[in-house]
Amino acid sequence: MVGGRDIKGYDGFSKMRDSEIKAWINLLPNTGTVLEIGTLMGVSCGIASKAKPNLKFICLDISPAYFEWKRNRTPNMNLFVGTSINLAEIVEEKFDHIYIDGSHLKEWVLIDLECALKMIKPNGIICGHDYYENKKANEGNIFVREALIESGKPFEIVSGSLWKLK
Ligand SMILES: C[S@@+](CC[C@H](N)C(=O)[O-])C[C@H]1O[C@@H](n2cnc3c(N)ncnc32)[C@H](O)[C@@H]1O
Repeated sequence: MVGGRDIKGYDGFSKMRDSEIKAWINLLPNTGTVLEIGTLMGVSCGIASKAKPNLKFICLDISPAYFEWKRNRTPNMNLFVGTSINLAEIVEEKFDHIYIDGSHLKEWVLIDLECALKMIKPNGIICGHDYYENKKANEGNIFVREALIESGKPFEIVSGSLWKLK
């Protein structure tokens, strides 16, 4: 998807479809800490954090759209500027849920996946966005699919381009 969808009540746009945001929220626990890798303007996370007010969200981004993110933030959202490598080096807690939606280059998806596997609690869910089967579906981005296959981890499609590790 190039650009994104404006959502009433939020600054900027979300890269997720309505059905994908709902499906993501369904995967989230009710308490604990969630890591979102690639937050952009924080719109998807803002929606999820309102639906799950008892969850703490860490929004990671190498180059966030900070002014929009700040306006979309809820009290349970915090920003980490950097990469999953940077966070994995310093973080002490493990996450209950990790959502991967950063760079969609194959190399970066593999890095984010590897860091996520280090930072996830046992039985925590790792999922992500922008899985496409072929070039037509998303104007060319099949790298998430390639990275998931190369990782050797079993995964499934939850809704649209939302995937999760089994
Ligand atoms: C697809 S957008 C995220 C969309 C957001 N999750 C949403 O639903 O609206 C991807 C974001 O990843 C960030 N990004 C790109 N490469 C990154 C990297 N290596 N590490 C962390 N964030 C990265 C970009 O700055 C961008 O904001």
